[in-house]
Amino acid sequence: MERTKPLRGSTPQPDHIMISIYGDAKTSMAVTWRTSTDVKCGYALYREYGSNKVIRVDAETEVFESDIDISNMFWAHLEGLKPGTKYYYTCGDDTHRSNEFFFTTQPEGLTKFKFLCVSDQQKGEPFDAPDYSYFNSLIKRYLKEHPDTAFILTAGDNTDCGQHEQQWNGAFLGWEGIAEYVPVMFTEGNHDTRGFKDYRNGIGRYYSEPAEFFCKQLKGSYPYNGPEGWKTENYTFDYGNAHFTVLGVNGPEDVNAWLKADLENCTADWKIGTYHFPVCYTGSDCQNYDCYPVMTESMEMLDLLFSGHEHSFGRSFPRKNEELFENPSKGMINYVLGNSNHNPPGTRSLSKVWHSAFYPMEDITSMVAVAEVDGKKLTITASLEDGRIADRCVIDKERDVIEPYALAPYFNRTRMMYKGADLGLCQYQTTCENIDGVWYSCLSVLFSYFGGKVEKTENQVYLEGYGHWAKFTQDSKTVETDRGTVELKNAVYRNAEKKNQLYIPMDAVELFDMRWAYAKRNNFILVEHESEDKPITVQP
Ligand SMILES: [Fe+2]
Ligand SMILES: [Fe+2]
Repeated sequence: MERTKPLRGSTPQPDHIMISIYGDAKTSMAVTWRTSTDVKCGYALYREYGSNKVIRVDAETEVFESDIDISNMFWAHLEGLKPGTKYYYTCGDDTHRSNEFFFTTQPEGLTKFKFLCVSDQQKGEPFDAPDYSYFNSLIKRYLKEHPDTAFILTAGDNTDCGQHEQQWNGAFLGWEGIAEYVPVMFTEGNHDTRGFKDYRNGIGRYYSEPAEFFCKQLKGSYPYNGPEGWKTENYTFDYGNAHFTVLGVNGPEDVNAWLKADLENCTADWKIGTYHFPVCYTGSDCQNYDCYPVMTESMEMLDLLFSGHEHSFGRSFPRKNEELFENPSKGMINYVLGNSNHNPPGTRSLSKVWHSAFYPMEDITSMVAVAEVDGKKLTITASLEDGRIADRCVIDKERDVIEPYALAPYFNRTRMMYKGADLGLCQYQTTCENIDGVWYSCLSVLFSYFGGKVEKTENQVYLEGYGHWAKFTQDSKTVETDRGTVELKNAVYRNAEKKNQLYIPMDAVELFDMRWAYAKRNNFILVEHESEDKPITVQP
């Protein structure tokens, strides 16, 4: 078939050149590139710094047919390298070869190294040639300041619409002059799996499971060690004394089982994960049902989980089973990276009960985090493009502390938190109560807080939100709802000490498809809802 090459389409000359860790970082390196299908085979040539002995490695190749183009992907696996050694390389075929680039392998016995973390650098505009030039200059600036960067880790949304190759063509231009020298480890984000039936007009949105274009371009770039059916989207690699697990957004049940098995046998000093959607999100209307509770068990075996998605910054206290701690040994820290390419948050961000540090990033700015492992100490500095530091923390596993010190909250009266946010004044005089092991709350304050409908009549309260309603009656277990009459396990009661309000058993939130949990250590009840709706009632 005769094809007209699109703008930024593949040519016989290698492009999208990227190095990445695909095996032992001390002795191997993957080189990825793309050409038009005119080029049938490709190879890398490499030599050790100071040596004239050139070694050839034939690349694996696969056809990548996208929505606009057809190309050959090449992956050359350089093996048998010496640790801590600089190598020069080129890639291509006999007639079309790249410039010469270089990289350094991981030194033996390494326990001190640095990596950069970026997230949500996605750019959709213009639709046929997204512009990543700002991101390119930003990362080059950070690399100039941190020339000893071992690799760059992303937390997803590397593109705005990954099922359209125009977007990857833009994204790879954003990595030009960077990815040829520093291994880039991509995490898949929801936007990397996204496509439109009609791309130009943004009609017919869908999400590819598995992420087709992501996997087809990066198949040979990363360890092919993910769970069956979800490889490349998920992979693990080791660097120095740290184990990294990169998690995709699809197949959470399979990923959970795989991650659990992966971490059970892990003896590395650091267990670091990346997963695009935050567990401890900042958005007022976000949710973590994508990972919680399905992946709770495996994720909480990690020391640290980098996330993105919100384009806003937040660092959590160590968290396990809904409880918040001070000591890093007690739980997982969710480090939600801000965006790295002038992408303001689409949601209203809040500091939540689980946050130890927070910045909403609602000014048009970009963030890059520098992570420095030094034995059992890990320092992470997240700074904005103008140099202002949004957060710097040291996680010290030897002393089991995080600095700057911050105490996870403890409340003397049990508070309700909705999507991690304190109801504040709403529950000032109506905190939760436990009677004979059963939790009750004044649910009308929760519905008032999120904009649901509340109608109080004599001995009754009517609540409506998220497309469901329920009518509760004093001293009764029977509830009328939009889905018929329901019997609760315990009766509603009038609380004379708390503004005479009707107190409803917490299980009743399930009538509205919410889930709840009690965090004993901190003494709060967390209520979550899966949707990202804003159910404020309409003013007639
Ligand atoms: Fe994003
Ligand atoms: Fe996202």
